[in-house]
Amino acid sequence: MSDWSPNSWTTKPIKQDVVYEDAQGVQDALRKLEKLPPLVTTQEINNLKVSLRNVALGNAFVLQGGDCAELFDYCNQDMIEAKVKLLLQMSLVLIWGANKPVIRIARIAGQFAKPRSSPTELVNGVEMPSFRGDNINGFDADAESRKPDPARLVSAYFHSAATLNYLRASLSSGLADLHSPLDWGLGHVITPSIKEQYSKTVNAVKDALRFMRTVGIDKDRGMETADIFTSHEGLSLEYEQTLTRLLRNPSASAQSTSNFYATSAHFLWIGDRTRQLDGAHVEFFRGIANPIGIKIGPSMAAEDLVRLLDVVNPTKEIGKVTLISRYGASKIATFLPAHIAAVQASGHLPVWQCDPMHGNTQATPSGVKTRHFTDILDELRQALEIHRAAGSFLGGMHLELTGEAVTECVGGAAGLTADGLGERYTTFCDPRLNEKQALELAFLVAGFYREEEDI
Ligand code: PEP
Ligand code: CO
Repeated sequence: MSDWSPNSWTTKPIKQDVVYEDAQGVQDALRKLEKLPPLVTTQEINNLKVSLRNVALGNAFVLQGGDCAELFDYCNQDMIEAKVKLLLQMSLVLIWGANKPVIRIARIAGQFAKPRSSPTELVNGVEMPSFRGDNINGFDADAESRKPDPARLVSAYFHSAATLNYLRASLSSGLADLHSPLDWGLGHVITPSIKEQYSKTVNAVKDALRFMRTVGIDKDRGMETADIFTSHEGLSLEYEQTLTRLLRNPSASAQSTSNFYATSAHFLWIGDRTRQLDGAHVEFFRGIANPIGIKIGPSMAAEDLVRLLDVVNPTKEIGKVTLISRYGASKIATFLPAHIAAVQASGHLPVWQCDPMHGNTQATPSGVKTRHFTDILDELRQALEIHRAAGSFLGGMHLELTGEAVTECVGGAAGLTADGLGERYTTFCDPRLNEKQALELAFLVAGFYREEEDI
């Protein structure tokens, strides 16, 4: 690809651009970042690529989840551990439900930059520049803190590195060890029939684990550690460009084959607001060898979707692209069938992943941004049914969640109401499922797959 380089995106029109006052500061930050080592290796990126190929072929499932906006402050032991444990528990439930291996990808160690629908926002009645994520500006509501600061790009690297370091260290030290008892914490479930259903599922998962221990299958390395890949939206192209390196492709048979790898994370995705065919983000993404995601919503025309796939994946590599659909429960039936049909006719075989969060955001009468558990579940169930009817495979789900006991989404078995949202509403962007709601969702989705098998 002679017409591509890590900075060829700068010749294209760009959305969500950040205008820095301190041009020298930007250059200093980028020079510094260019010298720092990759955060992930090509071997790991390649392993994820192989796994996602398997998902595209219908042989595995992918669970992706984490915060909408990660803050530098989230780089602490408790929050990292809580998120890892939650993803692990959810994936065990899904392995049992879908009867397939589950690939875990966290929105972690770099999910800092946020696209915003408006450049300004009202904070306590005062208009100021929108918060664009911790790698761009500060959340504090004053003009100085809201100014884009290039030093934050370097800080983003070090917070990603520290998060990743603890993630890797704790996984290799047994945080994900299935020999240690897992707390399935179902005390909050208030409806007796749901409680009974969950207890049955937990017992089935526990039985399976006990059986593996008894027959000694759990001696394999796989039971003591788990792979968790990292991901974020590739929004800040200045940052991504500095960490994009020409490296040897570990899977290539010819030793001399090198490719450009984005090494800030294993998996990057293009957001729904930045996927213009002739735009800067698509230009950057078409040149990297990583597996990539593309968010697609109601504004995506089916023909454009195929053109986009042709641009970012001209060789039609299976599973290279994950299409992350996010229409909303009331719109999915209108848009998904045509998207699936167009992709099927094109000969591309992507991973299809359902993001049931971003099309279901609404505000309460008092103006609090929330999402209803029933809408989230409804979009997931419809996605599963629409794919099945089309002879396509729903390979995964993409969730905004946290390991903390927040009160941001309405509903779930604990019966959180709109009035209760104020109790622990701590997100800096979109509302997330709390740990109980997330686990519950995993149980329900596992149930859908089980039902499917019974059909
Ligand atoms: C997100 O995933 O946080 C996000 C902004 O999504 P989308 O691009 O789908 O709106
Ligand atoms: Co979000």
